Amino acid sequence: MKTKIVNTPDLLKAASRKKETTRFCTANPTHFEDLKSLVKGQKYYIRTYGCQANVRDEETMRAMLEDVGYSFSEDIENVDVIIINTCAVRENAEDKVYGEIGNLKRLRKRNKKLVLAICGCMVEQPEILKRLMDTFPEVNLFFGTHEIAQLLDLIYESLTTGERIVSIESKQGEVVEFVNDCRNNHYKAFVNIIYGCNKFCSYCIVPYTRGKERSRHFEDVINECQKLIDAGYQEITLLGQNVNAYGKDLDEGYDFADLLEAVAKLGIPRLRFTTSHPWDFSSKMIDVIAKYPNIMKFIHLPVQSGNDEILRKMGRRYTREQYLNLVKEMREKIPGLSLSTDIIVGFPNETEEQFQDTCSLVDIVKYEAAFTFIYSPRRGTPAAKMKDNVSKETKVRRFQELVKHLEKGIEEHSNSMIGKTYDVLVDGVSKTDDNMLSGYTEENKLVHFKGDVSLVGTIVKVKINESHTYSMIGEIVNG
Ligand code: 5AD
Ligand code: SF4
Repeated sequence: MKTKIVNTPDLLKAASRKKETTRFCTANPTHFEDLKSLVKGQKYYIRTYGCQANVRDEETMRAMLEDVGYSFSEDIENVDVIIINTCAVRENAEDKVYGEIGNLKRLRKRNKKLVLAICGCMVEQPEILKRLMDTFPEVNLFFGTHEIAQLLDLIYESLTTGERIVSIESKQGEVVEFVNDCRNNHYKAFVNIIYGCNKFCSYCIVPYTRGKERSRHFEDVINECQKLIDAGYQEITLLGQNVNAYGKDLDEGYDFADLLEAVAKLGIPRLRFTTSHPWDFSSKMIDVIAKYPNIMKFIHLPVQSGNDEILRKMGRRYTREQYLNLVKEMREKIPGLSLSTDIIVGFPNETEEQFQDTCSLVDIVKYEAAFTFIYSPRRGTPAAKMKDNVSKETKVRRFQELVKHLEKGIEEHSNSMIGKTYDVLVDGVSKTDDNMLSGYTEENKLVHFKGDVSLVGTIVKVKINESHTYSMIGEIVNG
């Protein structure tokens, strides 16, 4: 198969943050009609790894594929297009992708016309792309996070030329507005408000794979939210690698607090947002969250470490004390607030004392939920160049110890819920028991309870009877 290289990634270019105003454009495939006539009745399959940004990208790709005539099929053995949407944030996320593509390559033998594509954050890294290209000659389309709008043209080119196409441009990126929409869920929706990240935490690959921070127009976000409300959605989550930076790259006079307030005023029953960097979490934002009952009293506030020296080496831009002061202000102004966090253990050369600072911070904050990770070196980031004297065993032991500290806070919170009644947005049938429904409280606690499937997508009152620490068992009250 001949290879056509349109663009390949370049980490230096990816890290550049030239001062330029955000560019806006609309997705407009050149070969839409040509592809439409080619793919009538054909099927696609898409699999996504990683964060909510990837999940939303998947929805965007689904909308484009369905618009041109493809329909989704679970039966991966018999589809015409397969897209693997990848994550690069840690090594184990990447390993899963190697495994999955290894399983899929046999499908190429059966169907020479199969479009087998890899996209997302993994291919934005030059060495990973090379490894994927060398290991999997069966994959005939590679495209990056900035090429999603070109998906249909890339598929058309691949089908008509029979070439293997690589189109991954490292750039600051623009804001692309998509005309059509597709949602994986009919009562909960993600709405992008800002793309990319300028924070460059020293361990993180995201600023390289997703470009600069660039905000959508205020009006575009509001219009999308209004459409969702009109369609009966119960919950909107405003999405960005760092939502607090919203508006800073635009000259429109709005910041995140203004946007959050405007969406809350539209009247969506539940409004959430993620992720917030503690560095630019303003008092104005806290006041808005406190003021509107439909903004959920749940904030995901990644701390990463409780030690000042490690925070400095991570490039997090705040100290332990500043983080704790922020938490104090939040808890004072927002009664009933739940906090969750991300923590990395085993950052290069982390001492036992520094690790214990993280444990003590966890004891103070008493998070209601947390995601914990063992540090994973990402080639191209500054931290990956640091020599590390901490053994794998120590990292694993610290990880387990940290989880115990976190569990104490989570358990305390879960136990305090017993006997109380909560509003729960019903998500679906419980994954472990067909007779049970499951859903989330406003504080984002998972609850299981008996009920009729017709309740899915509605908000019901559930009295909590039992705690299983990470999830609760309850019963519907008041019908
Ligand atoms: N190693 C381990 N965890 C990481 N994260 C980001 N980069 C790395 C890495 N190199 C974690 C951070 C971040 C979350 C999304 O993933 O905790 O908040
Ligand atoms: Fe990565 Fe830091 Fe940006 Fe989060 S804020 S995406 S951890 S660089």
